[in-house]
Amino acid sequence: TEISQMRQNLLSWYDKKKRDLPWRNITTEDVNQRAYAVWVSEIMLQQTRVATVINYYNRWMKKWPTIQALASADSESVNDAWAGLGYYSRGQRLLDGAKKVVEELDSQVPQTAQDLEKQLPGVGRYTAGAIASIAFGQATGLVDGNVIRVLSRLRMIGGNIKQPNVVDAFWSLANKLVDPDRPGDFNQSMMELGATVCTPTTPACEQCPVKSLCRAYSKVERLKKSSSLKL
Ligand code: ADE
Repeated sequence: TEISQMRQNLLSWYDKKKRDLPWRNITTEDVNQRAYAVWVSEIMLQQTRVATVINYYNRWMKKWPTIQALASADSESVNDAWAGLGYYSRGQRLLDGAKKVVEELDSQVPQTAQDLEKQLPGVGRYTAGAIASIAFGQATGLVDGNVIRVLSRLRMIGGNIKQPNVVDAFWSLANKLVDPDRPGDFNQSMMELGATVCTPTTPACEQCPVKSLCRAYSKVERLKKSSSLKL
């Protein structure tokens, strides 16, 4: 089917082409530790570029390797470690979240997107989906700016993303498309495609693993052939 083809193409592209980033090399079997590492990286990545985050992430994990270590940190040292990343409340909420997990949840990070969003301060719909899928393997989709751009092109979906119902439609689609066997890799492949190939102004369609399934791509190709559009 179209959906299984899309999953297959995206995942094998991701396996070959993904960038080697520190939070993608988490080998521990300890799911709480994995969740912590994903949590830190996704909060840092929310408003900051990947290239900048790498060093901050490595320094943070060296300073507070576990959620227990972070839970006993003081607010000022967290602010110091965050210096330069901007939006300092993100660091403080990460600290608050670590304290809550250690002090109130017996050091167990909630394992579903729904519980993560409900129980952890600073963890919204996106971050909850990222932790649930990447760390816990829950088959839940996610939507960020990159994913919206990829999906809107793939399916030629218009609409104003300032309208909550339009954003909800993208979430429904993402939940339908996510690969149930490799949800974390699938979600990261969508974000990776948006960041490296399906870019905002000049997408590199020739390198795209799902161009044969992309409605925007086939429309442009058709127009080119009928030469009503000179590119
Ligand atoms: N942007 C935010 N988180 C990401 C991830 N895990 N992979 C690729 N891009 C991202």
